[in-house]
Formats: sequence, C-alpha cells, structure tokens
Amino acid sequence: MERYIGKVAVVTGSSSGIGAAISKELVKKGMKVAGLARRIERLEELKKQLSKESGQFFAVKCDIRSEEDIVNAFKWVETNLGGVDVLVNNAGVHQMTNLTEGDAEKWRTVFDTNVLGLCIATREAVKSMKKRQVTGHIIHINSIAGHRVSPELAPIRNVYSASKFAVRALAETLRLELAHNKLKIKVSNISPGYVKTEFQVAGGQTELPEYLKNGPYLIPENLADAVVYVLSTPPNVDVSEITLHPF
Ligand SMILES: NC(=O)c1ccc[n+]([C@@H]2O[C@H](COP(=O)([O-])OP(=O)(O)OC[C@H]3O[C@@H](n4cnc5c(N)ncnc54)[C@H](OP(=O)(O)O)[C@@H]3O)[C@@H](O)[C@H]2O)c1
Repeated sequence: MERYIGKVAVVTGSSSGIGAAISKELVKKGMKVAGLARRIERLEELKKQLSKESGQFFAVKCDIRSEEDIVNAFKWVETNLGGVDVLVNNAGVHQMTNLTEGDAEKWRTVFDTNVLGLCIATREAVKSMKKRQVTGHIIHINSIAGHRVSPELAPIRNVYSASKFAVRALAETLRLELAHNKLKIKVSNISPGYVKTEFQVAGGQTELPEYLKNGPYLIPENLADAVVYVLSTPPNVDVSEITLHPF
C-alpha cells in the first residue's frame, strides 16, 4: 500500500457500515479519502475520529441519485485534492416491496442508487484518472446477490438482485472499455454475503430476516481488508472478482 500514501480515494456511502470501514482503513494507510454520503453529520463525526491518523478524511455531501451532486463532488475533489486515484463504489440500497404489486418509485430508487449513481461516479473518476494519466483503480462493492438470486430474500428484495447483476456486468464492460482505450485503470468487483451493518434493517425493513438471525456474518472490516488486498497487488495483477462468504 506504500504507493498509495498521499493518494486520493473517493468512497461513496462513507457514512455507515462497509463504506465507513473502508474509509477508515484507507485513511489509516495514509490516503486522502473523500467520503460521499447524504448524512453529512455522520461524515463529520468520522472526520473527527480520524483526525490523528496518517492520512486525511474529507466529508463531501452527495446524493448519489443526483448527477449534479456527483459531478460537483468530483469537482470538489479535483479543486481541493488534485483528482482521484481510487474510486470505491459502495453506496447501495434495497427497498421493501415486491415485483408483482410493486412500487415503481422504490424500484427506481434502487436502480438510481446502485446502478446509475455508480456509472456516473465511475465516469467522473475515469475522466480524472485519464486527464492526469495515473494508474487508477475502480472498486465496486457488489454482493452475492449479484451472482445468484437468493430464494430466502426473493419475496422482499424485488429489483435488488437485478441491480447487483447489472453491477457485475458493468465491471466487466468497464474493464473491456478501458483496455480498448488503453487506459491503465484496474477494475475489481467485491461480492460479500451477509455483512452485519444497518443495511438489513433499512429501506422499510424493520427486522432482520429470520434465516440471518443466527449468523454467520461478515463484518465491515472484512470488506476493508479485501479492498486493501486488491489495491496492494503488483502492477501486473488486476483482481477482477472477490467473493466473501460468511463462515
Ligand atoms: N450488509 C450486507 O449484508 C451487504 C451484503 C452484500 C452487499 N452489500 C452492499 O454493500 C454496500 C454498503 O452497504 P452497507 O451494508 O454498508 O449498508 P449501510 O450501512 O446501510 O450503508 C449504506 C451506505 O450507502 C449510502 N447511500 C445510500 N443511498 C445513498 C444516496 N442516495 N446517496 C449517497 N449515499 C447513499 C448511505 O449513506 P447516506 O444514507 O448517509 O446517504 C450509507 O453510507 C451496498 O452497496 C450494499 O448493496 C451489503
């Protein structure tokens, strides 16, 4: 990780769970991390917690469903930190509804956040990396739900799995497009199973699904370790996929 000391990472969904853990770890490793989320007070709290670490954390308010917010966030990074070297696309939601009688507004929220927001953030990061001719790294925090539809969650997860399948396809498409354009930017897709965060009791869901109640589960720090691993690989290695199963 030494080559990343002083370099800039943008982490979306930095205000809780996996994004907060990844941000903490990258700051501890000496990076400048711009954490993006809507709950700015949580980001400011994280900034305070990290004030004594070797790197630095910057709180940037951004609703990842808004193209304008994302573009402004990357402009802020360029003006204040010089540009982005690493992007971790982590912000993600699910919504309690179903497919057969479902609320299209909730489906839209899931796709706008998990898919379109990720695409727009990726576009902005690639622009910055290309302009500065850096060897960059784009990391998508995907899910096991991006590899298979869970029968246990099928009645309540509606378009979530489809959004994560899309993220996996987008990672592959991005890798091919970057290679076609001869850009030295790595792309990694990291797919965890159940991680103990606020995620399972969000989006209108108030209780943990029965089958998850007794674990096993991952913790957000396991994802931070995986991010450090993919970033630490030698220049000739690009880890395209990591799947983490709770054990
Ligand atoms: N927990 C699991 O079991 C699990 C398993 C597999 C994959 N994942 C994936 O891991 C990622 C992180 O989830 P988590 O478990 O850490 O959940 P979490 O604790 O609920 O955190 C979600 C993060 O996404 C941000 N976010 C949501 N909507 C946003 C928006 N419109 N604009 C900006 N930020 C937004 C939230 O920030 P604000 O609300 O402050 O904006 C928060 O920081 C997601 O992509 C999720 O799909 C989670």
